[in-house]
Amino acid sequence: MTTTTARSFDVGASTDVPERGRLVVAIDAGARTVTVGVFRFRGRLFAYENVCAHQGGPACQGRIVSRVRERLDAEQGSLGTVFDEDTMHIVCPWHGFEYDVTTGRHPGRPDYALRPVAVAEEGGRVRVTL
Ligand code: FES
Repeated sequence: MTTTTARSFDVGASTDVPERGRLVVAIDAGARTVTVGVFRFRGRLFAYENVCAHQGGPACQGRIVSRVRERLDAEQGSLGTVFDEDTMHIVCPWHGFEYDVTTGRHPGRPDYALRPVAVAEEGGRVRVTL
């Protein structure tokens, strides 16, 4: 049986993660290097390992967008698409899987999810725990 002990890492200043922005860092965690993406949405931080649930691509390095929603009329006809500013998604650059940064899950296939990483802010610094 292998026992691992969680370790906390300082990954940057709070100002390195602006609202709707991100910080991607490679962390030397001893036996392995873990690349983590840290995101800020509505003031809160969220962090995930930079490994897409589809085929392992660098999902955290993809484009940041709001979810696209289609507006429908009473007969379900399209009134066009809009960006939903109440969401923040990252789009994996390899094949386009999207993840909601607040959950780490693909909005249409929630069984596809990024691995969450514990993140906290202390004294103007960002720390993640692996
Ligand atoms: S590896 Fe991310 S969408 Fe395919």
